[in-house]
Amino acid sequence: MKPLRIGVLGAANIARAFISGVAPSKKVVVAAVASRDMAKAEAFARDTGVARSLGSYEALLADPEIDAIYNPLPNTLHAEWSIRAVKAGKHVLCEKPLATTAADARAMFAAARTAGRHLVEAYPYRAQAQTRKLAELVATGAIGRLHLVRSSFGVYFDDRANIRLRPDVGGGALLDAGSYAVSLVQLVAGRRPERVSANAQMFETGVDRSTVATLEFADGLLAQISCSFATAYHRHALVAGETGVIECTYLNHPPVGGPPTVTIRRGAKVADPVETIELPGGNGFLAEADSFADLVAGAPAGWTGATPAESIDIAMTLEAILAAVRTGQPQRVDAFAG
Ligand SMILES: NC(=O)c1ccc[n+]([C@@H]2O[C@H](COP(=O)([O-])OP(=O)(O)OC[C@H]3O[C@@H](n4cnc5c(N)ncnc54)[C@H](OP(=O)(O)O)[C@@H]3O)[C@@H](O)[C@H]2O)c1
Repeated sequence: MKPLRIGVLGAANIARAFISGVAPSKKVVVAAVASRDMAKAEAFARDTGVARSLGSYEALLADPEIDAIYNPLPNTLHAEWSIRAVKAGKHVLCEKPLATTAADARAMFAAARTAGRHLVEAYPYRAQAQTRKLAELVATGAIGRLHLVRSSFGVYFDDRANIRLRPDVGGGALLDAGSYAVSLVQLVAGRRPERVSANAQMFETGVDRSTVATLEFADGLLAQISCSFATAYHRHALVAGETGVIECTYLNHPPVGGPPTVTIRRGAKVADPVETIELPGGNGFLAEADSFADLVAGAPAGWTGATPAESIDIAMTLEAILAAVRTGQPQRVDAFAG
């Protein structure tokens, strides 16, 4: 099988990590990079070892030697350029959060369906054995019926020039780190919440710097997420059921950030055994890109990431949390169903 030829939209910082991560892949090759500035594209291609550079995003989408696009543009540009890419006949691996509104997320999948192309949201942790073990334990009833989920992700940023602190391009802790925390809840709950309430501390640029939210589900499940740009790095999930509890770090690239383990208390009592399951780690971009190549090659079961329905649920939940922060009032998530 010939490797999937990926083109990168924008000389983004994360694209450097993506390109070096996927370099060992037999299933994908990063064949070109496009920047709005030709000199920047050339320098980026030189630094990263990418064969070709292009001076506009349009040129990349028109390139017949490119099969798929990796979209690491600022959040507000994910929808526009992913839609343009599928209309140009490319498959799309789009960075998280897929979109800044649920309506945009729905429009993106509608365009992909019409074009007959695959479009998926990139969450490297989803391709990790650590995450798949977590999902398998929950799905097979290892901890019984779920009642509480808590997920957190914090990482320090204070540079006003960073896209994460800019309101004009969809910055803020929730859409950045919080999208991970919400996606973890979505993964273990298997559905979107009914109602959310939230509190945030704002950065002076107008984006949320730290957010906590409570997510209420129809069957009584309660989840809490937290995210922050004001704290040192931390990332943790606790999934509590009637007959056991799981804790893990849902890392993108373990052992970076910690060992790829899942800890499970098997039983409801304090004296019940706690087991730490060790799993393989590795580069999450590589695992994710290989899984994307399987999807494009016609093996949808090979895709380990969020399905379109899950990505829409995540987008609805994020939009509802932002509305709860803005209004100070709990929000029904279905209000964002379109
Ligand atoms: N999955 C992960 O682990 C992970 C980690 C980090 C970030 N991300 C996601 O990846 C995306 C990019 O993050 P990043 O930190 O790599 O961003 P970044 O370094 O700021 O890069 C964004 C790129 O977008 C292009 N761009 C187009 N219009 C722009 C505008 N108006 N303002 C700024 N840049 C513009 C620029 O490329 P040109 O100038 O070359 O055109 C720029 O280099 C975000 O969606 C983020 O959530 C994901």
